[in-house]
Amino acid sequence: MCGIVGFTGRSQAAPVLLDGLKHLEYRGYDSAGIAVQKDGAIAMTKTSGKVDALIDKVRATGGMPGVSGIGHTRWATHGVPNDVNAHPHMSQDGRFAVVHNGIIENFAELRKELEAEGVAFQSETDTEVIVQLLGSYYEGDIKQALLRTVSRLEGSYAVGVLSADVPGTLYAARAASPLIIGIGAGENFFASDITALVSHTKNVIDMDDGEIAEITPDRITVFDHAGRAVKKEERHVTWDVASAEKNGYDHFMLKEIMEQPAALKATIEPRIKGGCVCFEELGLDMKNYDSILITACGSAYHAGVVGRYLIRKLCRIPAEAEVASELRYGDPVIGERTLVIVVSQSGETADTIAAMKKCREAGATVLAIVNVVGSTIAKLADAVLYTWAGPEIAVATTKGYTTQIAVLYMLAAYIAKHLGLLQNEAALTDTLQALPRRIQQAIDMNPSIPALARKYHASKALFFIGRNTDYAVALEGALKMKEISYLHSEAYAAGELKHGTIALIEEHQPVIALCCNASIMEKTLSNIVEVKSRGAEVLALTFRSNRQIVSVADDLLFIPPVDPLFSAVIEIVPLQLLAYHVARENGCDIDKPKNLAKSVTVE
Ligand code: G6P
Repeated sequence: MCGIVGFTGRSQAAPVLLDGLKHLEYRGYDSAGIAVQKDGAIAMTKTSGKVDALIDKVRATGGMPGVSGIGHTRWATHGVPNDVNAHPHMSQDGRFAVVHNGIIENFAELRKELEAEGVAFQSETDTEVIVQLLGSYYEGDIKQALLRTVSRLEGSYAVGVLSADVPGTLYAARAASPLIIGIGAGENFFASDITALVSHTKNVIDMDDGEIAEITPDRITVFDHAGRAVKKEERHVTWDVASAEKNGYDHFMLKEIMEQPAALKATIEPRIKGGCVCFEELGLDMKNYDSILITACGSAYHAGVVGRYLIRKLCRIPAEAEVASELRYGDPVIGERTLVIVVSQSGETADTIAAMKKCREAGATVLAIVNVVGSTIAKLADAVLYTWAGPEIAVATTKGYTTQIAVLYMLAAYIAKHLGLLQNEAALTDTLQALPRRIQQAIDMNPSIPALARKYHASKALFFIGRNTDYAVALEGALKMKEISYLHSEAYAAGELKHGTIALIEEHQPVIALCCNASIMEKTLSNIVEVKSRGAEVLALTFRSNRQIVSVADDLLFIPPVDPLFSAVIEIVPLQLLAYHVARENGCDIDKPKNLAKSVTVE
């Protein structure tokens, strides 16, 4: 986690760095800092708290003049989030300042070594070993000192370096943490992610593991681990500036919920041609696989659970979904005939990357479903399907998740077709193409959500129940609620209630029941009746025409009529809005919930 940014040019660096950090805040927001080079010295301002606190502090110090600098927004790993542990960190001689995203696993050993040489550490961070090593190796050639420094590091890092001695020159290094270089006119940048740079440039170079870069306002040179210059491709990013701004919405999360019809359209439309699902980009022969294993973290895992139900149903192949943090340390039974589907919005989640590497080593083929082009997962996979959701800024994913499900729907249909199991593809593609409209209807048909949020926001706990894909959506609904409103929310397979959880049901306990699958409606209805007879208040999510559920529930959320195979992507939308409004009622920081970060690049 953590976000880093660097700028070198002819205009003032501090405003560019602070604006970049604002856009990177989703990656961590417990402390922040910038360092600027001027007249052969480095000035530094750091603070605990959010980037706004840093902006105030920089203003109070006179704006920090200088035309090159580096910045950081932190999600603490080593050391509490205070001013001292905030980045940048400075070498003992004041010659270098460093920002870092990642974890240096051998930092304790390096710190001991440096302390024995007389280095006095200022912070508790792992990062400080990087800058102190650099200071101790420097003999007039920064590139050589940096190569030597990174050769000592174990773990993951995206590092930015500012030096007092060489005006206008930045250095950067990468291993297993995201880092791009932005190419401007008479100014250049580095950043963890394009959202920090998109208002300045859309032309980037992706740094690869083991590379370092020397960046001046007019020149960018990338070197490999041995210091040899590497020729790098330039990439043009299609995301626009507006998509990384709130555009009048109070929160990015609300904006991104509302963007879902358009995001799903962008995901689905290019892949449907003449009534057929076309994945020209896939390049895999689906007949080569006997089983499918889906792995991911958080909401992406929940999308995988939806995908698992659909693949089993349409493709009749054994399909499993497992969280990546478990899979990476488990003993999955996989081999050359296993297709592993890795799902990730950011493409940088550390556990997901580790799980996919393990699967590849076991001989499996890895297909990645990813949003961020050029991300680590996209690069490591055998094949990639992009979700094309555009930038997602709010920490709690919404359009990232629904577009993942949309790709999984199309993939299931595509595999089924290649196995000769798909009937009436034209009807299925009509259903897929109607999904963006259905999502808009689901948004429009639930004006009662703010009132429901006022009713339920002070509850002690919320239980979400459902069966099959309704259960998969319940998992995500409960996660959304707890992530942003801090209300204790859990999801249960409805049939499991009687095996323990029902003991928790008491007078006025809210239960959110998902009932969007006609074939098992009766069963969920029985569970609703069971909890109601023990005093629960039931908020049911169903179709307006479902008289049985409508007549028994205390409160209702609706989705428009849709084939139950594909209802998950619609069902989640009212639940996202409910979580949003409950969080608003509770006065929570919706886009930046406490203790979380969007891109979890550490284990
Ligand atoms: C974090 C985010 C979640 C996300 C998960 C996986 O926990 O807060 O919203 O689902 O990481 O992220 P990925 O980028 O791999 O989809």
